[in-house]
Amino acid sequence: MIAPDRSTVYIETYGCQMNVSDSELILGKLAASGYDEVDAPEAADVILVNTCAIREHAEQRVIGRLGEMKSRMKPHAVLGVTGCMAQRLGPKLLDRAKHVSLVVGPDGYRSLPLLVENARRGARASSTDFDLEEHYEDFTPRRFDRVKAWIPVQRGCDYRCTYCIVPTTRGPERSRRLEEVVRETTAVVEEGMSEVVLLGQTVNSYTDGRHDFADLLRAVGGVRGIRRLRFTSPHPNDFSDRVISAMADTDAVCEHVHLPMQSGSTSTLKRMLRRYTREGYFECVRRLRDAIPGLSLTTDIIVGFPGESDEDFEMTLSAVREVGFDDAFTFKFSPREGTPATRMPASETISDDVASQRLGRLIETVRAGTRDRNLRLLGERREVLIEKEARRGGLLQARTRDFRTVIVPGEPAMIGTYANVELTGTTGSTFTGVVVRQRSALPVAV
Ligand code: SAH
Ligand code: SF4
Ligand code: F3S
Repeated sequence: MIAPDRSTVYIETYGCQMNVSDSELILGKLAASGYDEVDAPEAADVILVNTCAIREHAEQRVIGRLGEMKSRMKPHAVLGVTGCMAQRLGPKLLDRAKHVSLVVGPDGYRSLPLLVENARRGARASSTDFDLEEHYEDFTPRRFDRVKAWIPVQRGCDYRCTYCIVPTTRGPERSRRLEEVVRETTAVVEEGMSEVVLLGQTVNSYTDGRHDFADLLRAVGGVRGIRRLRFTSPHPNDFSDRVISAMADTDAVCEHVHLPMQSGSTSTLKRMLRRYTREGYFECVRRLRDAIPGLSLTTDIIVGFPGESDEDFEMTLSAVREVGFDDAFTFKFSPREGTPATRMPASETISDDVASQRLGRLIETVRAGTRDRNLRLLGERREVLIEKEARRGGLLQARTRDFRTVIVPGEPAMIGTYANVELTGTTGSTFTGVVVRQRSALPVAV
């Protein structure tokens, strides 16, 4: 029930975990200003679409969704666009979609309550200034996930990968103070959670001026009650020996790293301005694996980058086999306005047909590798954290420390607890398992 003096907000989130985390902050801020969350746009006084601009397709989905909202929103409801597409397009979005009255970029959420109030009185506004001090420290996020907490530790990005829009939409890199991250970690333990995921675009380049990412891992991992510590996404060049040692020494740090490779060809990597070679990437993988036994590795890969030859693409396939990734997100290159990759000679453009074929072959190669590795794990035992109900009734979805999904039978009351399971079957990507011995049952967060 919504109290009569309160208004309602509906938020829809696209893009990466950073956006999900921002939506949690936005809802927390609006709750403090009298807005309760509802789960349908029809029921909301304020509708926010928190957007992603990473690929053309992501933006098209949002444009389609904004069109739909027009017919679904209440007559006096206000529609706002936040996030990366809001930052990229700014006032142009107000021109393009007359039923949108608010456009707010990732550093502007502090003034959302005011902007929303103005919009409800008829104003239309766009706010896209960067604020290098902004970390929303005083906001209390309204967390969507009750089992693990996403904690942003860094905003923005100082790399300039030539395909990427993020430096434009998120601005320069800045890190939160270590003490603030530890404070938030302590608070999530008090809420009953024992897993945290530290977020940043190149999260291991974290520095608050006094501490680096190694210090941060040790400090967060040292918070009493934290049993699992993950982070995403690191950049290969920022894995200093100090960071790798801190990972190895900190019990809570899980045996899984998501390490975006993007390409297995040194020449493509160079044109992507990734700042490492094929061999440099392999070397990073070797250092991580030497330090952390049983490490699983996942990655991001782009195909069809301008100038990618058949040989370059074959190098990517061979790198996938050589590293032996446990899984990968694979993408067709999508030109983003204003990025250096769009200024490469037209003759270097890869046709959509070729890019699609390459994507298909890459997906097959990744899947075959995942399947082989997973089949070899059958019969092994793993500790899992039970995360949520599975889609099929009577089953629960759990996760191993090395980031594998296991479906186990059980009651919803087990969500938030740890169990030991035996891996009994695999679809190739996910596992089925049986609980072999119930370990410490942590309190279930409600
Ligand atoms: N900061 C992270 C990546 C964030 S974007 C990192 O550097 O690892 C997530 C992924 O989207 C990237 O790793 C890349 O694989 C993909 N991506 C980014 N821009 C893209 C583009 N223009 N076209 C296709 N894929 C892209
Ligand atoms: Fe984009 Fe590169 Fe920054 Fe990642 S490191 S966000 S891919 S510019
Ligand atoms: Fe998308 Fe912005 Fe994340 S462009 S991937 S929501 S940083």
